[in-house]
Amino acid sequence: MTAPLLDIHLTDDDLTIGLRTDALSGLTATPKTLPPKWFYDARGSELFEQITLLPEYYPTRTERALLARVADEIATAAHPEVLVELGSGSAVKTRLLLDALTAEGSLKTYVPQDVSASALRAAAAEIAEEYPQLGVHGVVSDFTDTLHNLPRGGRRMIAFLGGTIGNLVPTERAEFLAGINEVLEPGELLLLGAGLVIDPAVLVPAYDDAQGVTAEFNRNVLHVLNGRLGANFHPEQFEHVAHWDAENSWIEMRLRATAPMTVTVAELGLTVTFAEGEEMRTEISAKFTRDGLGAELAQAGFALTDTWTDPDERFALFLAQRR
Ligand code: AVJ
Repeated sequence: MTAPLLDIHLTDDDLTIGLRTDALSGLTATPKTLPPKWFYDARGSELFEQITLLPEYYPTRTERALLARVADEIATAAHPEVLVELGSGSAVKTRLLLDALTAEGSLKTYVPQDVSASALRAAAAEIAEEYPQLGVHGVVSDFTDTLHNLPRGGRRMIAFLGGTIGNLVPTERAEFLAGINEVLEPGELLLLGAGLVIDPAVLVPAYDDAQGVTAEFNRNVLHVLNGRLGANFHPEQFEHVAHWDAENSWIEMRLRATAPMTVTVAELGLTVTFAEGEEMRTEISAKFTRDGLGAELAQAGFALTDTWTDPDERFALFLAQRR
């Protein structure tokens, strides 16, 4: 068997430059903010895997069960020749889709995209071995700014699962959806997984679990800044906050300073102060209505083909076609 192709459009140096840029602008802004993409070093990815197993964290298992139920319908409706999976994190979801799409018969190529070359190389090799009839062509890139690096040719379906669309602020989200629309040819498809607005009594604990795994995941961004940029945060002096913002329809994760602090970020030559009780936003996780996200897709140039939800309407899969 030949090793799968891997295109590298993002190096470790690129990541460091991105982190420096984001840390500098976020830590000097009022209020302070850090983007959620920096949670995911090896420890953060491990903590996220633990989150997906928590009793309170329903999104992953809900999406997986939904996908297991409707993958055949997706395959029949979409019958793509190429499956592009953005942020191809989860092995289980990928296989549910690949099984249905290979059984349907049109699929020829699988294109997993991820920021981590090592994770992608391993995943691509496994898939290539399990699905010997498929071509596998991995792309190492940042999904928000390298859509144009995706291979072309063959009728494509881009899958963006897990509800990660909710981590983008509305302007980023509109740009991202329009960007996907732009790289697609008319008739090509987007399969989008998104969390729906539900009772805050269920939603908030999903982001503030009893065991404190999400709190540790949240504080991990400070460990990343310490490790990669020589910062001297004391992560344990920051409290995890998960706040449901009903107006914006998103969960906002923040880190709250429990004491006044002065922090230096050696690699940036930057000193920042925190007042006691000051909160820094580290993630939004927007939740949608079917109509609301349907309208955003239409606005971005898509025609909605189908929508599927779980019985409790906690999560939805949208299949949309470039007009
Ligand atoms: C990566 C989008 C699936 O927003 O629910 C989990 C990340 N943050 N707990 C989400 C996350 C806090 C997660 N996704």
